[in-house]
Amino acid sequence: MTDTANTIKHVTSPLARQTLLDNELTRPVAGVRPIRLLPWLQVVKIGGRSIMDRGPKAILPIVDEIRKVLPEHRLLILTGAGVRARHLYSVGLDLGLPVGSLAPLAASEAGQNGHILASLLSPEGVSYVEHPTIASRLAIHLQAARAVVGSAFPPYHHHEFPTSRIPVHRADTGAFLVADALGAAGLTIVEDVDGVYDADPNGANGAQAKLIAETTSAALTEMTAPLPFDRALPEVMATARHIERVQIVNGLVPGRLTAALRGEHVGTLIHTGARRN
Ligand SMILES: Nc1ncnc2c1ncn2[C@@H]1O[C@H](COP(=O)(O)OP(=O)(O)OP(=O)(O)O)[C@@H](O)[C@H]1O
Ligand SMILES: [Mg+2]
Repeated sequence: MTDTANTIKHVTSPLARQTLLDNELTRPVAGVRPIRLLPWLQVVKIGGRSIMDRGPKAILPIVDEIRKVLPEHRLLILTGAGVRARHLYSVGLDLGLPVGSLAPLAASEAGQNGHILASLLSPEGVSYVEHPTIASRLAIHLQAARAVVGSAFPPYHHHEFPTSRIPVHRADTGAFLVADALGAAGLTIVEDVDGVYDADPNGANGAQAKLIAETTSAALTEMTAPLPFDRALPEVMATARHIERVQIVNGLVPGRLTAALRGEHVGTLIHTGARRN
């Protein structure tokens, strides 16, 4: 027998004594809606293949458009990976690299596109920032500049699910996850087509493809036709907390991005699972 007194302090916490696996027990605490960290932020994903790979004729007009909207909006601009990542996947897959090794390599290609875009916008005070800055220091950067640029890929890296040999969480999913986590005002995805069609408008029967002006993440999950974004995007949209809708716009048509940021319907609107309180 010891007479040593137990001096451990017990912290009162509603989750201290229960499993985190029982939804009934955690709901009173964890069921509360999260706050919006950056409610004034607009997130814009710029296509790697559709915009950046086209070079000056596509990039310079979009840079000009972004420059002009900066007085109206504070932007987090995220870039996709484009053709270099496609080439990287083919070389890596040929060598048998696992998906978790391919994901960070593709993310760095998306980052290269971000560096290019940030360089062109640097006279406006815009710079490229890495993931940890987006995660925890975006507010201070956006006090100093109207916009910052980053890689749209989520940092799943070696945590990428091994369900597919190609990373399932790519630029569109990454842009959505960070926009929703930050509680941003909106997300606009910039492509080289007018929105989502019922079939690839540049595919074999593209002439018959019809533009879908408005749809839901649930309907897109069911769609078997190819999509102009990651298949995982409609899946993560289903459980969104803040971003109620995303617009897909054609960045090759001057003015579409500006109109979308002003709340106009100029592409395909996708309604997510998030609901206003
Ligand atoms: N249902 C669809 N509706 C519209 N476009 C589609 C559809 N299915 C496929 N596409 C094709 O997707 C193309 C865009 O390709 P993709 O989404 O790979 O480019 P991106 O978004 O620029 O790439 P990244 O992921 O590198 O940023 C369009 O030009 C179009 O041909
Ligand atoms: Mg796309």
